Amino acid sequence: MTKAFEGIRVLDMTHVQAGPVCTQLLAWMGADVIKIEPPGRGDVTRSQLRDLPGVDSLYFTMLNCNKRGITLNLKSDEGKVILEELVRRSDVLVENFAPGAMDRLGFTWERLHELNPRLIFASLKGFGPGVLEDAKAYEAIAQATGGAMSTTGFEDGPPTVSGAQVGDSGNAVHLFGAICAALYQRTSTGRGQRVQIAMRDGILNLCRVKLRDQQRLQHGPLAEYPNPTPGDAVPRAGNASGGGQPGSALRCKGGGPNDYLYVVIQPQVWEPLARKIGRADLLDDPEYATPDKRLSRLRDIFAMLEEWTLTQEKWEAFRQLNAIGVPCGPVMDTRELLDDPDLAASGMVVEVDHPERGVFKTVGCPFSLSDSPVQVTRSPLLGEHNVEVLTELLDWPEDELERLSAAGAM
Ligand SMILES: CC(C)(COP(=O)(O)OP(=O)(O)OC[C@H]1O[C@@H](n2cnc3c(N)ncnc32)[C@H](O)[C@@H]1OP(=O)(O)O)[C@@H](O)C(=O)NCCC(=O)NCCS
Repeated sequence: MTKAFEGIRVLDMTHVQAGPVCTQLLAWMGADVIKIEPPGRGDVTRSQLRDLPGVDSLYFTMLNCNKRGITLNLKSDEGKVILEELVRRSDVLVENFAPGAMDRLGFTWERLHELNPRLIFASLKGFGPGVLEDAKAYEAIAQATGGAMSTTGFEDGPPTVSGAQVGDSGNAVHLFGAICAALYQRTSTGRGQRVQIAMRDGILNLCRVKLRDQQRLQHGPLAEYPNPTPGDAVPRAGNASGGGQPGSALRCKGGGPNDYLYVVIQPQVWEPLARKIGRADLLDDPEYATPDKRLSRLRDIFAMLEEWTLTQEKWEAFRQLNAIGVPCGPVMDTRELLDDPDLAASGMVVEVDHPERGVFKTVGCPFSLSDSPVQVTRSPLLGEHNVEVLTELLDWPEDELERLSAAGAM
């Protein structure tokens, strides 16, 4: 079976998390993704947070599957020549170096466009134009500057970073979408184009509903928030749902740190929910009669619900509430997720064999295309495909490659 991006070649000059996650998605869609790394050390994540000495870290191996890997010293003249040749033969170049790094290497958009007018040149930076433009950025900095941190956590605690890597992996998905759109547009224009994303802008997109609430705040309290009448900015919402239906994380039997069930109260399930928790009396109480009335009593309602959830294990509570149509889900910890049989069966958690570390688990592709199935394969070792890629694409003899390697170009 063919793949969505079969025949598309991607030069992957990405590092750390945001770029590699994007190009991994392109690889899963069938693109030939060639990761280009500096000789000797490679992507810094190969050696960061290592769990096994001398072996590519899980940080690297979980973010760089299904790619080929070459090393090129792009600060050497010969390395630059090789990259130019590869650019001429590729469809997409993706990079997420600090601002100005590509220009300093001599690979400006103008130069790349001149080398290959069909090339899509995709860049991820921390920030768009403005005072932050030249700043480097990491996940938490994007969350801090994009509205995620100020709205996450509890109101009596500090701004909090989300466990979900919305700045890095979240923006990788934005970048993936943008590259797909550019590839599609190229089918009619024949031209490549410049694709740019700033991590902060992607966070803003993900914080859209918080900016909705900022404007609601001018016209009255935010009833669904733990503190409906904060100061002049949207407060940290704790575990409030953020949507039009109120929700909360409720403790369950067991008392462990993740023995919680998240429950959303839709108007249409209020009656069966009240009966389930043994509070049918609320159905006759005018104070709880409408969703608006209940909004002002959320604290009481969640306390009553929690009295019931505390008598149940989280999965049992889920089964009972799900059976009567109440939207809910157990809080799952990372051990439960990696061992989850459903996630293993669906391919969301997959085992991959790696020549240095052996078998490890990774997270598979979060979407599926019926005509473009994904099979997750391991990440490349540093420079593993130097000879393969350069002989295949440039048709250079092996002794020339040995000379370039000895000269420090790769
Ligand atoms: C992530 C980040 C903070 C890391 O900063 P850093 O470790 O100092 O790395 P930089 O990107 O600044 O620099 C990379 C350097 O390696 C060089 N380099 C990269 N690949 C190379 C290669 N194959 N050969 C030779 N040099 C190479 C670059 O030219 C650059 O050199 P320069 O500083 O002399 O211009 C920074 O890259 C950044 O802000 N990126 C944009 C936002 C981002 O992606 N954040 C992280 C998301 S996970």
